[in-house]
Amino acid sequence: MAFAERNEKMMKRQILLIVAGLTAGFSLSAQPSMKRNSDIEVIKTMKLIEKASMVCGTGWNDSSQMVTGVAGTTFGLPEYGITNALLTDGPAGVRINVDQFGTKVHTTAFPVNTAMAATWDLALEEAVGAAVGEEIKDLNMDAILAPAINIQRNPLCGRNFEYYSEDPLLAGKMAASYIRGVQSEGVGATLKHFVANNSETNRFTVNCVVSQRALREIYLRAFEIAVREGRPWAVMTSYNRLNGFYTSQNHELLKDVLRGDWNYNGMVMTDWGGGNDPVAQMKAGNDLLMPGNYDQIKGIVEAVKDKVLDEATLDENIGHILTFVRKTPRYRGYQPTLAPDFAAHRKLVRKAGAEGMVLLKNSGSMLPVASRKKVALFGKGSYATAGCGTGSGYVNAEHFVTLEEGMANSGYRVDETLKSAYGAYIKKAFADWKETEWYFPKEAAAIYATEMEIDEASVRAAAVRDNFAVITIQRCSGEGWDRKEKDYFELSPAESDLISEVTAAFHARRKKVVVVLNVSSAIETVSWRDKVDAILVSWLPGEEAGNSIADVLTGKVSPCGRLPMTFPEKYSDEPSTGNFPGEPADNPANVFYSEGIYVGYRYFATVGVKAAYPFGYGLSYATFKYSNMWVDPKFFPEGGKVTVSFSVTNVGKKAGREVCELYVEAPNGTIDKPVYELKGFAKTRLLQPGEFENVSIEINSKEIASYWSGMHAWVADEGEYKVSVGSSPTSLPLESIFTVRNRIVVETTSDVLYPNLPVEDMEPRVQE
Ligand code: BGC
Repeated sequence: MAFAERNEKMMKRQILLIVAGLTAGFSLSAQPSMKRNSDIEVIKTMKLIEKASMVCGTGWNDSSQMVTGVAGTTFGLPEYGITNALLTDGPAGVRINVDQFGTKVHTTAFPVNTAMAATWDLALEEAVGAAVGEEIKDLNMDAILAPAINIQRNPLCGRNFEYYSEDPLLAGKMAASYIRGVQSEGVGATLKHFVANNSETNRFTVNCVVSQRALREIYLRAFEIAVREGRPWAVMTSYNRLNGFYTSQNHELLKDVLRGDWNYNGMVMTDWGGGNDPVAQMKAGNDLLMPGNYDQIKGIVEAVKDKVLDEATLDENIGHILTFVRKTPRYRGYQPTLAPDFAAHRKLVRKAGAEGMVLLKNSGSMLPVASRKKVALFGKGSYATAGCGTGSGYVNAEHFVTLEEGMANSGYRVDETLKSAYGAYIKKAFADWKETEWYFPKEAAAIYATEMEIDEASVRAAAVRDNFAVITIQRCSGEGWDRKEKDYFELSPAESDLISEVTAAFHARRKKVVVVLNVSSAIETVSWRDKVDAILVSWLPGEEAGNSIADVLTGKVSPCGRLPMTFPEKYSDEPSTGNFPGEPADNPANVFYSEGIYVGYRYFATVGVKAAYPFGYGLSYATFKYSNMWVDPKFFPEGGKVTVSFSVTNVGKKAGREVCELYVEAPNGTIDKPVYELKGFAKTRLLQPGEFENVSIEINSKEIASYWSGMHAWVADEGEYKVSVGSSPTSLPLESIFTVRNRIVVETTSDVLYPNLPVEDMEPRVQE
């Protein structure tokens, strides 16, 4: 159902609800009443209709919203002192309307999650989380519907930019840091979308068929790390089905895994309109139905009356909701300042955006380029630079700094002829924009437009006028739809021609060309990369986009980002292509995750498929030397951990920060394992030439274990484990070993989540 249609239907139901006289608790109270009762007292006193209303949000587009544009509000019971909680999107910043509190309020657009994961900097992500938390709190809201953490299973997933990585350790640690940051401000974070929401096509119905092992080691693992280490106030279930059941109606997922195996005691909410059976959702432990509607309330009341739903189940769910509400600033009577420190947040965006950029190529040390130079900026993305994606991940920032503005701000002299040609093209893209689908917003008209064609004479003239060229290749995406190989992964003919023409004209005059990839996920690079001198992946770096990119081009910031996902040579090299977006491909009912645990680099490295740029890859202007590796202890203590220590010295001429990646190669044991897996990482401080830092990374026994479905346990095989440390999988100068003397059963789990249809996991090493 189209979003608008759904929206309208929900609104009608909301009106029905009001007509039905069930509005008592819908009045939104800005302040808690003086009367505060304990949860048990409140629940005991609540009438059935109040209970059923409490487990549902106050509906789509609740007209009494105190902050317009929030995604949803929980039901309030002023007579018991229970305030409403205002929940807002989304991962890269606070998504509310601009008109607020009688004035214009633009929130901060931070770098998207993929860009943050590319920083590999947990402290920076925590700082971003805290800044988002401050905006939530001081703009009179209570929780953010973020972080989003699903695994980037395929480059075409429309929401990849909202997610961190193809690797669960990197994704989980990043999410935990974001959650800690947000919640340090006394507002809630919502970990979403639990789980296996790795594509958008038919997202309201599609069934993801995933083996227990792939779930535990890849898809659930990221959530597990974030839940255990971040302790989010809320978890949002996903739209899709998992192994036959909607995730919001999946008792095994919510009760056995989330609350049982992981000891989670926070609140669980649905995604907006997710699932199809409110009673099943209640029973499964999905406490809160968002955004909530009349039919759900009515269904729950009737189910209790008909003895199909035990009232005690409702009480348990309400208990989680009340615990959540009591932590919120609104309940605690916090007086929002309505003036978060936007200036400080803008600075943070500029820094974080630059630190997530990944330098893929830098021939002849083309970069950095002195800022007084004359620059020819090609590609519409140079003048309409994308700072965030669309859908609920969009942020109404005051202004997204374009690359052209950023270059001018940094002192480059921008070619005015090109600027006016592209300016006219962008103006036309806005004029031609037509409202088709809700996920193509007007703000992104130029970003979603096709690339402008430019005649060769204009390119040659620019090569005479300017000192160097930047070509921006742009891709954006958003929720509700997946991209296609042709329209996303591959370059369009206009883009390929642009690269060929610009490189030919500039190289003929011994001038260099850099390509900026302003993209939301991995794209094709092999057909054109040899033509250009440098490639910088900027991702969607937030509202300071142009300034952050310019900071890297000028050398103010030495690139220190690393790819959080593999850049394949061809789309067909991806292990999931046969099953993305599912079967049948034009209208998928099921997605079979038959690559099993071999997602991203786990597949490329193990099967020996060459990637264009591997996961973890990225260059720097500085040069780092690794030394003094020490693994302690050498024999893995049961239930314990080993610490890997080493030194990193900047032996180059420029200052920089280094991402240190630690991979472990398991012994050939009982279970098929990838050749290597990321088991830890760290980022140094800014090291001046000659400076060094001692780094320590811990590896616990769960990290080296695999999930043995037959035993429903995490098991680490005995034998020698090789540990390698370095800048990326292509440069791992330090190696050592530790030994597991006897097989360790690290943890047993519930034996649940069997696939409902046959799915045969890939086992590349066994087949050899
Ligand atoms: C998205 C969620 C979002 C919610 C509220 C849904 O369509 O999937 O990520 O938080 O809407 O806007």
